[in-house]
Amino acid sequence: MKIGKYELKNKVIIAPLAGYTNYSYRKIMREFGASLCYTEMISAKGINFKNKKTLDMTKVKEDDHLVSMQLFGGTKEDLVKAAIYLDKYSDCDIIDLNMGCPVKKVLKAKSGSYLLKSPENIYEIVKGVVESVSKPVTVKIRLGITKNTINVIEVAKQIEKAGAAAICIHGRTQSDLYKGKANYDYIKLAKESIKMPVIANGDIKTIEDAEYVLEYTKCDAIMIGRSSIGNPWLIQNIVNHFEGKEVKEPTAIERIQMVQRHYELLKAELGTKLAILNLRSLFSRYLKGLDVKEYKIRLMGITEDKKMLEFFKEMEEKYENS
Ligand SMILES: Cc1cc2nc3c(=O)[nH]c(=O)nc-3n(C[C@H](O)[C@H](O)[C@H](O)COP(=O)(O)O)c2cc1C
Repeated sequence: MKIGKYELKNKVIIAPLAGYTNYSYRKIMREFGASLCYTEMISAKGINFKNKKTLDMTKVKEDDHLVSMQLFGGTKEDLVKAAIYLDKYSDCDIIDLNMGCPVKKVLKAKSGSYLLKSPENIYEIVKGVVESVSKPVTVKIRLGITKNTINVIEVAKQIEKAGAAAICIHGRTQSDLYKGKANYDYIKLAKESIKMPVIANGDIKTIEDAEYVLEYTKCDAIMIGRSSIGNPWLIQNIVNHFEGKEVKEPTAIERIQMVQRHYELLKAELGTKLAILNLRSLFSRYLKGLDVKEYKIRLMGITEDKKMLEFFKEMEEKYENS
């Protein structure tokens, strides 16, 4: 699959996940084979107001490619201005526009999936951005606002007409939030109705899901979000499966070593304090299936790097031969 000038090396893409998909996360996923990683959504207004924290999020390291940087914003003006900034000053490869987020705060700012109300407005926004930047522009959407107002085909057509390089469709509506199951029928219909590459997203949790979604929707690639958290082996196994290579589950010790590696990367990226906080939401995901209740409780009380390292060492010793 191609996005603009970039040929993806496989069909497995990591979703934008606010609070997770920072540089460290993307680095691990890429090492396990993901062909493209998205940043979490970044506020267009934050960029335009030169908010330091937001501008820091737009920096891309040399070994962080291919990376798609996602913007959210409520107006053409805001999104065009922020996209021009990314085009000029960020080393991201692709600019993605968030038109799928169902979170209240984002909807209040008339951003994310709020925009799905008006395919014509989407056309104007996407066209405005595409015409203002040289990087490829993609859009991530949901099926529509509610089950009764699904308009994904019309929206996809407008996005294609506006000159986007690809589209990603999460098979839920705004009002679904994360409930129920992703609906692949509409993703399939949207794919059939346009020519630009389509990425299918939602509830891909296993090799079988990945295979089914690609086969059923005939999409060009799949995007994996929640199931990649603490499980880069899923990404590796899906990629390996598609390439006819061996598939294997990680051992307990491999999981522990990987959670420690993730911690070390986060420490270098964000500093110890934030790394420890970040690790709290990753720890049980990496160690799913292992009896680590006691360790989970202990982790909550750790605030120093030294204690963190002792903690990992102790876990490694316990699981050394398993
Ligand atoms: C914690 C969390 C954060 C998310 N952040 C974003 C985001 O910043 N931008 C976006 O477009 N989607 C975001 N999403 C949606 C995911 O990218 C994805 O579309 C959704 O989780 C469905 O895919 P999955 O079933 O593989 O997780 C987020 C989802 C979760 C659970």
